[in-house]
Amino acid sequence: MNESCKTMVRLESRADHAAATKSSLEYQRRGESISHNLLSAIVGAGQGLETGFMRLSGKVAVVTGAAVGLGRAVAGRYAREGAAVVVADTNVSDGAVAVEQIRKEGGRGIFVGADVGKECDVGRLFEAAGAEFGRVDVLYNNAAVLLYGRDVRAHELSMEVWEQVMRVNLGGAFLCSKYAIPFMLKQGGGSIINVGSPTGLNGCAPDLTAYSTSKAGIFGLTRVMAAAYARDGIRVNSLIPGTMDTPMNEYALSNEETREEYRKAVPMGRLGMPCDVEGLALFLASDEASYCTGGLYTCDGGLTVV
Ligand SMILES: NC(=O)c1ccc[n+]([C@@H]2O[C@H](COP(=O)([O-])OP(=O)(O)OC[C@H]3O[C@@H](n4cnc5c(N)ncnc54)[C@H](O)[C@@H]3O)[C@@H](O)[C@H]2O)c1
Repeated sequence: MNESCKTMVRLESRADHAAATKSSLEYQRRGESISHNLLSAIVGAGQGLETGFMRLSGKVAVVTGAAVGLGRAVAGRYAREGAAVVVADTNVSDGAVAVEQIRKEGGRGIFVGADVGKECDVGRLFEAAGAEFGRVDVLYNNAAVLLYGRDVRAHELSMEVWEQVMRVNLGGAFLCSKYAIPFMLKQGGGSIINVGSPTGLNGCAPDLTAYSTSKAGIFGLTRVMAAAYARDGIRVNSLIPGTMDTPMNEYALSNEETREEYRKAVPMGRLGMPCDVEGLALFLASDEASYCTGGLYTCDGGLTVV
């Protein structure tokens, strides 16, 4: 058995990385190259429970939009690094499966069905977090919608779509922060991570007026909250994924030609997988990032440098 096959077998033996493995195999099937470093990163990802070295021990993390995609990967990683995780999502069935997976791996987690754009849901979400775990140290504001086909150029965009996207993508991050911050103030600190997008940095998605604007707003929210709470020990940063292979992008990536175009546009020559954001999400949540606030951190295979 050659080295890369051995690595794949090791990957397959890890239940916590079943999804990553599936994606990796899928990449190989497609002939998209996976570097040794990437494989090592995947194998090395999520060591916490196995090695005993956990970077989020004693912390409680709320991860929104964690039923599938990037949020699910991050919630799993946080749990493997010792955090008790509150998985929040409107997708009840996949959210429950995500928590089941966390528990199966020996982690602690609960699921709360909540629409982050609705204040009553968000209030209930943080009430549940407080009741179950007594604190909130990390808020990973990840939930978002991309309304492909309805989110269009400004002169054709309906107010309804604009409001829906703003309510969830930007309003959700604001509302969850609003309810998480009192916990953090009481505890003397915390970390908020707002998930942005390259579309909020430049005009790379001219058809997605509302989505791109909501993500630009995420950067504003990140900076203003970073400044407002810096002396309270609350750090606020943005994580900016590139083109990731998740349900959000299915509308584009399910078409082989479009997929290939997207892949070629990435300097690293491959699309991102959910596990790719775990390391940065973990770093920003952990005390290792104790002097980092107000930052916008890309995790995009170089997409935004070209
Ligand atoms: N996939 C990419 O290429 C990409 C690129 C840049 C940024 N992002 C950002 O990364 C984050 C995660 O993206 P993804 O690709 O995993 O998305 P996804 O669509 O695959 O998953 C999003 C999750 O959020 C949940 N959600 C949607 N609306 C919600 C609401 N109102 N309340 C609670 N949960 C809600 C969904 O049910 C789903 O589980 C998003 O903020 C997205 O904008 C993604």
